[in-house]
Amino acid sequence: MSANRPAAVVVLAAGEGTRMKSATPKVLHAICGRSLVGHVLAASRELDPQQLVVVVGHARERVTEHLTAVDPATRTAVQHEQNGTGHAVRMGLEELGGAVDGTVIVVCGDTPLLRGETLRALAATHTGDGNAVTVLTAEVPDATGYGRIVRDAMGAVTAIVEHKDASESVRAIREINSGVFAFDGQLLADALGKVRTDNSQGEEYLTDVLGILREAGHRVGASVAADHREIAGINNRVQLSEARRTLNGRLVEQAMLDGVTVIDPASTWVDVTVTFERDAVVHPGTQLEGATHIGEGAEVGPNTRLRDTSVGAGARVDNTVADSAVVGEGASVGPFAYLRPGTRLGAKAKAGTFVEMKNAVIGEGTKVPHLSYVGDATIGEYSNIGAASVFVNYDGRDKHHTTVGSHCRTGSDNMFVAPVTIGDGAYTAAGSVITKDVPPGSLAVARGQQRNIEGWVARKRPGSAAARAAEVASRESAGES
Ligand code: UD1
Ligand code: MG
Repeated sequence: MSANRPAAVVVLAAGEGTRMKSATPKVLHAICGRSLVGHVLAASRELDPQQLVVVVGHARERVTEHLTAVDPATRTAVQHEQNGTGHAVRMGLEELGGAVDGTVIVVCGDTPLLRGETLRALAATHTGDGNAVTVLTAEVPDATGYGRIVRDAMGAVTAIVEHKDASESVRAIREINSGVFAFDGQLLADALGKVRTDNSQGEEYLTDVLGILREAGHRVGASVAADHREIAGINNRVQLSEARRTLNGRLVEQAMLDGVTVIDPASTWVDVTVTFERDAVVHPGTQLEGATHIGEGAEVGPNTRLRDTSVGAGARVDNTVADSAVVGEGASVGPFAYLRPGTRLGAKAKAGTFVEMKNAVIGEGTKVPHLSYVGDATIGEYSNIGAASVFVNYDGRDKHHTTVGSHCRTGSDNMFVAPVTIGDGAYTAAGSVITKDVPPGSLAVARGQQRNIEGWVARKRPGSAAARAAEVASRESAGES
């Protein structure tokens, strides 16, 4: 592979992408957790190029900022006016100091489905055949808009003709230019100097380099992509969604081949950065995003969205939204739970139905089964938090922490007004508003005493249905006794 290591990759990303109708530059739109240009960079990096330059123009500050964030080793070249793909490559080479010795690969920033292995095959064909230029082509069902690959009687590529400049017979050709090329760096720089602008768009076409090199007697080759969908460029949101489904399909298929059960691939959406262990099960309607990891035998979904969340082996996460959470081995989450950043559920712990957690560390075997909010808290092992409890963490200005020990049993409908600490083995009574620390092993009761005012209904609501029901009940109990 190192023999095919290119001297440089030039990524063209200066265009505006008007058909996206978006405030966001086209190449920054994302599918499967990565920007369009980010996918192209990832595929390009698989070639291990000595240099990588992205040609930016439209919204270049935003694009450059993004590139710096996702791939700091990337250089950028500015193309102030979009005078064509040939001009763009010229700008890229200028940034690299003019001509480059060795192979230069040119790719477009809006082809997110392009795979590293396809680029490697192109580079291998290029060097193996000793070509001056090798173009990646594909047979497409509808070639409208693309540059057509013109071949001679022997099948050798003679030229690329843009759709707008093509005759009827050339337009009938279904083999198209993908926009991906391998060039000899020196010959590319020479030929770019000879590209003219006497075409229908008045632009410097990169595609003209191919004809120029052929006329000068150099070897010109083509590598046909196995699957034409791989080279599809994204121009609008329909194509964006199609590319997302295609890429997602690849990722889900790979997960299945690696031993993951995916009940409904069509409604399962995963980012490129998601990882699985064997025997994980993904139920329908599940979105797994960012650095999410699903452990061995864990089950997630249905109807679940996990971002940057780690799910331990054998855990169960049902109808849940989680962000930056850690779910321990064998833990149980949901149905209908919301785990916010900083939630760490220990092994066999539980965050049950209608439970929200944030910045909460929950010890092994501890359960928060129903209707509760646990924010800014540490809970020890094997404690049980009663239904409908709230960790009152916010005083209107600052957030405060609550600590609950191990083997505690807190009653239903408790308010833990932070900062407060419940000692190991302590109990609290239902309906308590806990404002003071509870020592280990004690029972805290913090609620009003109940008072029954007998005969109140008969006196205050005479003749009402309630009064009649009470009268019947009192007669019956008198008869019984
Ligand atoms: C280009 C090719 C065409 C090919 C098609 C594949 C040329 C002349 N034509 O046509 O043969 O079939 O791609 O999708 O090369 N760009 C710049 N600066 C510019 C112009 C373009 O950076 O001045 C970038 C764009 O952002 C885009 C890429 O180059 O990423 C291709 O440009 P685009 O305008 O889409 O070219 P097409 O007309 O589609
Ligand atoms: Mg295009």
